[in-house]
Amino acid sequence: MLTASEVTKRFGGLTAVDDVDFSIDHGEIVGLIGPNGAGKTTLFNSIAGVYTPENGSILFDSEELVGKPPHEIARNGIMRTFQTARTFNESTVLDNVLAGAMFGKNDPGSLDEEREKAWEYLEFIDLENEAEEDASNLTIAHRKQLELARALASEPDLILVDEIGSGLTPRELDELSGNLQKTRDEFGISVFWIEHVMDAIMTATDRIIVLNQGEKIANGTPEQVQQNRRVAEAYLGGAEA
Ligand SMILES: Nc1ncnc2c1ncn2[C@@H]1O[C@H](COP(=O)(O)OP(=O)(O)O)[C@@H](O)[C@H]1O
Ligand SMILES: [Mg+2]
Repeated sequence: MLTASEVTKRFGGLTAVDDVDFSIDHGEIVGLIGPNGAGKTTLFNSIAGVYTPENGSILFDSEELVGKPPHEIARNGIMRTFQTARTFNESTVLDNVLAGAMFGKNDPGSLDEEREKAWEYLEFIDLENEAEEDASNLTIAHRKQLELARALASEPDLILVDEIGSGLTPRELDELSGNLQKTRDEFGISVFWIEHVMDAIMTATDRIIVLNQGEKIANGTPEQVQQNRRVAEAYLGGAEA
């Protein structure tokens, strides 16, 4: 579904993403890990159209994404959540999800239809009781859940999830990663997920891609990645550049 080849993104003299190839299939949950500064968020921004890579191609259902602006890529069916949740905090919880439903991949139906849909996604994340609260009153964990619901309401084919683990209790993280698995199982949506909390990403993904200093150094099942020497070295800071 998503096929990236030879993607390179530079910032001045720094090569943040260095000649990276990977693909993601329909219905796959793929993890993206790597030490701080490895280029993970830059790769997401390159997929989402925030950055234009200097080199390479990113095909989504055979359509080239490189060069397209972010809103067009979103309408192609790629939605994202952020390392620090970007909910609309002056709006109610329900209106946050409704915004996703109205500005999604498909043209919106009537307001009533879209509101109905928004409720379904609120139920999915178990926040119906908070529907009329301002998003600013939610916990960090609930705001991340809300961001997921807003992304799902736009009915994407792929969601890019940047670090849900930071700032959450183990239990909150469990609930959220459970919802990412349900996202795939119930809606058939593919998930590409950056995470530094290893337990969560090792148990909830089908496959993991590892970046280090902009380069892809591994791609395999969680077991394979855990046993990979280059990966261990990268995390110990001992990898060769
Ligand atoms: N907008 C930017 N301008 C300049 N350098 C950047 C920018 N964004 C990221 N970088 C640099 O690119 C490298 C990769 O960063 P990033 O993609 O955020 O890593 P990660 O998400 O894996 O921690 C880092 O060295 C970072 O300082
Ligand atoms: Mg990052």
